[in-house]
Amino acid sequence: MRALITTPDLADLTTAEQVTETDLDRLYTRERILRLNFVATLDGAATGPDGRSGTINSTADHRGFAAMRRAADVILIGAGTVRAEQYGPSRTPVVVVSHRPELPPSIRDSDRVVLATSHASGAQESPTTWICGQESVDLGAVVERARQTFGPHVLSEGGPHLAGELIAADLVDELALSWTPRLVGGTRVDHPRILEGSDVEVELSCRHLLEECGTLLGLWRIER
Ligand SMILES: NC(=O)c1ccc[n+]([C@@H]2O[C@H](COP(=O)([O-])OP(=O)(O)OC[C@H]3O[C@@H](n4cnc5c(N)ncnc54)[C@H](OP(=O)(O)O)[C@@H]3O)[C@@H](O)[C@H]2O)c1
Repeated sequence: MRALITTPDLADLTTAEQVTETDLDRLYTRERILRLNFVATLDGAATGPDGRSGTINSTADHRGFAAMRRAADVILIGAGTVRAEQYGPSRTPVVVVSHRPELPPSIRDSDRVVLATSHASGAQESPTTWICGQESVDLGAVVERARQTFGPHVLSEGGPHLAGELIAADLVDELALSWTPRLVGGTRVDHPRILEGSDVEVELSCRHLLEECGTLLGLWRIER
């Protein structure tokens, strides 16, 4: 992996032949942040032919994904992604956002996984079920509680609907996006883009751009 663009404070990486895992940890470590992480094809699809992101990622994307997980105190994820990707518990605590009263089956039965839902779901508050909002889930309250419980660095691994809402609510600080050298095109599967939901107008500035075997790993900061 090589660095194509890095921030001035990591200028020594600009000419690095090899970006190591230690370098990746330097690039992705941040104290208090909400970072979105996505992978997309070159034609902008967030899923592969089977409707999952697992079929569009790459080894390089996986290296970035792992470094971001190492840097995070807590993972925030929508229940749709958990169901589609059959997400299980992780070493890093996970908060799953849903309108429903129960976690998806693949991620149940772990004290390191929290369901964040609303009062209207009928769920009861407990250490692993957070009632954040009356009729709908208040994402700002979820993020704040996740920070107080697990720590300041929140990593959201999607999916597109949750990400769209987090952006619209101005809760996101950084976007990490990998493009893998693939095209999926077609209409057999309705491929989402990385953001679904309401229209947004957000500008970002580049923090770094890395390349390995045709995969580009970018990190952008939201301009406020
Ligand atoms: N390319 C990538 O990097 C990437 C990353 C993640 C996912 N994906 C792909 O994206 C697809 C899933 O897309 P998606 O948009 O459905 O995923 P999503 O945003 O993870 O899930 C949507 C679901 O999350 C819950 N949710 C989201 N916001 C909520 C809120 N404010 N309040 C309450 N619940 C909320 C709801 O779950 P309930 O229905 O349980 O109420 C909603 O139906 C999959 O195909 C997956 O493979 C791709």
